[in-house]
Amino acid sequence: MPWLTGLTATLSLFIDFRTFPDFLQLISFDHKNRGMNRLAKTIRFSIKNIVLALLSLIGVGIVLRRIYALWPVLMHTEELPVTAPKSNSPFGNLDDIFVGHPLLTLIHILPALLFVILGPVQFSQKIRRRHPRWHRLSGRVFVICSSIIGLTGLWMSFFMRAIGGFTQAAATALFSVFFLIALFQAFRHIRERNIALHREWMVRVYAIGLAVATIRLVNALLFATSPWTGLALADFFGTGFWIGFVGHLIGAEVWINCTRSSARKPVLFPEHTAA
Ligand code: HEM
Repeated sequence: MPWLTGLTATLSLFIDFRTFPDFLQLISFDHKNRGMNRLAKTIRFSIKNIVLALLSLIGVGIVLRRIYALWPVLMHTEELPVTAPKSNSPFGNLDDIFVGHPLLTLIHILPALLFVILGPVQFSQKIRRRHPRWHRLSGRVFVICSSIIGLTGLWMSFFMRAIGGFTQAAATALFSVFFLIALFQAFRHIRERNIALHREWMVRVYAIGLAVATIRLVNALLFATSPWTGLALADFFGTGFWIGFVGHLIGAEVWINCTRSSARKPVLFPEHTAA
C-alpha cells in the first residue's frame, strides 16, 4: 500500500532525521509514474543549478570587490603599513585589515576566483561525460587552487585580525582543516579509481568553499537587522561564519545521501525499494 509507506516515511522523519533521504526518494522517485519522476528530477536539478549559479556569482563579486579595494596598495599608490583606519564605516574597518596583508590576501583570493569559476564546470555531468580530458585537466587546477585556499585560509585564521574575533577565527580554522582533509580524501579516492567516494568528498569540498557566499548573505541580513537587534559587526560576524559553514556542510550531506547511487545507499525501507 503506497499511502501506508508514505505515511510511515513521513512519521519516521519525526523520530529519526536520518530517514530524510529515503523520504525524499519516496516523494521524488515514484517508479510507477515515470513522468512525475522525470519532472521531480528536472525541478531538483534546476533548483540546484540556480542556487549554484547565484552563489558562484556572489563569490566572483566578493573577489572582485576585494581586488578593487586592494588596487591602490597593489599599484603602490598607497603607503604600507596602514596604521589608522581610513574609513568610519564598519566595512571600511574590514577593508583596512586586508590592506595590511595585500600579498597574502591576493594569494588566497586569486585561486578562490578560479575555484568559484571552475566549480560549476567540474560538477557538470554533461561536460564530465563529453569532455573527460577537460574534466581531469581542470580538476587538477581545481585541486591546486583548493589546496592554496585551504592553507592560506588556515594561515589567515591564526595570523590576521578577524572582525568577528575568536568565534570567526575558530570557524575558519576548523573548516580550513576540514576542507583540506576532504580535498585529500577526494584526491586519494580518485587515485584509487573509486569514483563514487571521490565525488562525495568533492561535493563536501565544493560546499565548504561556496559557503563564503552564503556567509556574506547571512552577515548582510544580520547587518540589515542590526538597528533592531542592537548587535555590532563584531557581535554577529563570527556567528554568520558558523551558520554559513555548518549550513553548507548539512546541505552537502543531504545532497550526497539523496544522489548516492543505490549500490551505496543504506536501505531503511526495504519493502519500498524492492518494489
Ligand atoms: C575553506 C574555504 C575557505 C576558508 C576557510 C577561508 C578563510 C578565509 C579567512 C580566514 C579569511 C580572512 C578573514 C578575516 O581575517 O577577516 C578569508 C578572506 C577572504 N576569502 Fe576566504 N576562505 C575560504 C574560501 C574562499 C573562497 C572559495 C572564496 C571565493 C569567493 C574566498 C574569498 C575570500 C575573500 C575575497 C577574502 C577577503 C576578505 C573579504 O573580501 O571579505 N574564500 N578567507
